[in-house]
Amino acid sequence: MAEIFVDANHPGPETVRGAYLAIARKWRPQTLEEMSGQAHVTRTLKNSLTSGRLHHAFLFTGARGVGKTTAARAFARALQCVVGPTPLPCGTCGPCVDILAGTSPDVVEIDGASNNSVDDIRTLRDGVRYLPASARFRVYVIDEVHMLSRGAFNALLKTLEEPPEHVKFIFATTEVNKIPDTILSRVQRFDFKRIPATVVAARLRKICDAEGVEITDTGLQMVAKAGEGSMRDAQSLLDQIISFGGASGDDQQVADILGLVDRRFLYEMLRGVLRCEPERCLQSIAEVYDSGHELDQFTDELLELVRNATIATMSEGARKFLDVSEEEKAVLLELTSGVPSEQLSRTFQVLLDVHDQVSRSTRPRLVLEMAVARLVAIRPSQPVGALVDRLVDLERRLRGQGVASPRGRDPEGESR
Ligand SMILES: Nc1ncnc2c1ncn2[C@@H]1O[C@H](COP(=O)(O)OP(=O)(O)O)[C@@H](O)[C@H]1O
Ligand SMILES: [Mg+2]
Ligand SMILES: [Zn+2]
Repeated sequence: MAEIFVDANHPGPETVRGAYLAIARKWRPQTLEEMSGQAHVTRTLKNSLTSGRLHHAFLFTGARGVGKTTAARAFARALQCVVGPTPLPCGTCGPCVDILAGTSPDVVEIDGASNNSVDDIRTLRDGVRYLPASARFRVYVIDEVHMLSRGAFNALLKTLEEPPEHVKFIFATTEVNKIPDTILSRVQRFDFKRIPATVVAARLRKICDAEGVEITDTGLQMVAKAGEGSMRDAQSLLDQIISFGGASGDDQQVADILGLVDRRFLYEMLRGVLRCEPERCLQSIAEVYDSGHELDQFTDELLELVRNATIATMSEGARKFLDVSEEEKAVLLELTSGVPSEQLSRTFQVLLDVHDQVSRSTRPRLVLEMAVARLVAIRPSQPVGALVDRLVDLERRLRGQGVASPRGRDPEGESR
């Protein structure tokens, strides 16, 4: 821990940067098995490794920091391991050791951004002819492949049309729309997805535990969400938190560093709304306001919380879509128990409206405070059936007292 994150010689931003590289590198999964999320990709890759029916060119697409380069390296090793091709490379054979050290002559990593000319690809084509030096295949990994020039793509296409048996290509890109169709039609394509926050949080938990960093599940969930589906971004945020807060950070510190509203105020606000306790709401608004946060961000996060609260009241199966830590899940379930989901969805509707007003107003605090009255007034409406029953009952009782049924009466009879 200490030797990675605390560097007495380079305090300040450099440390943050250095630490960022350290976590992302140190925790790059070495095998497909170890990757978080992307099961739809890793499953297919693993199957093709075990079945031995291997395509000669693969394209990994998706947003930044979701595991494309990681998967390319892991897959390369899976192809090359002496006991392979196997989803579980041994880690000790010649090719495994070389690839892990980044010194394998048979796994060539090319940065498409800086090697994008026709000449670069011609050099690659010349290299393709040679048999592997020591491993099973010659594996070419071209990262940021969309950066290749038109001429370079054409040169590449020639090789893709008639690839030598011993060559495998793995291309990675964040911008698949820039890849010519002629190339696309000759590769096996894998679309990497953004990684769900709960999955990212679970990986961060593992990292924190191993590194002796104490951050709660709620804190990690905040970090994961702020990463917006990118594991790398989440890890870099985690580094920042560690470099500011050391080996432990409470939720408030984490929220501060991420620029988020402290979740306690969100929960207080929701509690106030659901229990019809306006003073709780006004208090949370005051605290958020005093802490210097934008109230439109607060209402925005509140909307998400109400979304989660609503899901908490749905079926057990729906709960897997909850976007909160286990700790918060327990709080949400307690908070919403007995609350009809209809009340929550109406709260959501009102809040949506309020959010709109708050973000446009020059007096957001006033708007939000006035909205509290609307929010705490939301009651579950009664089912129509129950209302009809009550009316019928009322009518019957009135008749019993000798009063004529309202329906049969002249509406103006009394005044006449
Ligand atoms: N699916 C994943 N599972 C675990 N760690 C991941 C995953 N995706 C990215 N990472 C982490 O983020 C870092 C950057 O990932 P990388 O594979 O280079 O992303 P990109 O999709 O931009 O190529 C890795 O070193 C690793 O620590
Ligand atoms: Mg990459
Ligand atoms: Zn091996």
